[in-house]
Amino acid sequence: MKKKADKIVSLKNINKSFPVELGGEQQVLFNINFDVYTGEFVAIMGPSGSGKSTCMNIIGALDTPTSGTYELYGRDVTNLTADELATVRNEHIGFVFQQFNLLAKRSVLDNVMLPLMYQGLSISEREARAREMLKRVGLENFESYLPTQLSGGMKQRVAIARALAGNPKLILADEPTGALDSKMGNEILKFFKQLNKEMGITIIMITHEFDIAKYADRLIHIRDGKINYNGAIPRNDRNL
Ligand SMILES: Nc1ncnc2c1ncn2[C@@H]1O[C@H](COP(=O)(O)OP(=O)(O)O)[C@@H](O)[C@H]1O
Ligand SMILES: [Mg+2]
Repeated sequence: MKKKADKIVSLKNINKSFPVELGGEQQVLFNINFDVYTGEFVAIMGPSGSGKSTCMNIIGALDTPTSGTYELYGRDVTNLTADELATVRNEHIGFVFQQFNLLAKRSVLDNVMLPLMYQGLSISEREARAREMLKRVGLENFESYLPTQLSGGMKQRVAIARALAGNPKLILADEPTGALDSKMGNEILKFFKQLNKEMGITIIMITHEFDIAKYADRLIHIRDGKINYNGAIPRNDRNL
């Protein structure tokens, strides 16, 4: 049994609705309950439009639920202000997105240094840290390149270096291989696996594909905003 202290993410009875154009609202998440523990590699899988990104935005403190409670490291972050949420994100979470979200006109090194701006480090400390992270993802020779000069897989590795730079215990990846061919996608997934197993970084990865979810150790399946499976990776996705 995991200790209570090991819990990183705890969602309790989370509901999320968005206002719709002609008045009223659309409910997207229905009574979502799950926990994620330190060192886990969890996939959140579901068809397009099922509410995965909405769920990730709440976990990532990018958005707040309509009702329910969200605890990150045992702290209730449900009702924080936008500024407080930003601090929580910077301190605890590294993000990886499908479209990489790199600044096109800034060098690879600058991109990785950028999130360290808020951590009270000197420029030389930030540079050293960013170089170390680029080395970790095998891009130490590409520091001065622009993202546009790199392949998709390399861009995603830059994004991973950026996510790691702040030394987060939790990485949230939303369709991280969605813009990559399967060979590059597999490399990125293996790299996540390595970060998880060798460095103990907790990973929550969102995907709509079972073949990608399989890289994780646990699967949470969402359909129409409701969890319909939460457990070990099943042998196939026929019953999801
Ligand atoms: N900011 C928003 N405003 C209004 N509706 C939204 C917003 N974000 C998501 N939705 C709606 O919520 C539903 C689920 O979206 P999303 O969480 O992006 O699904 P997924 O990531 O699984 O494809 C969709 O119907 C989408 O249109
Ligand atoms: Mg999505």
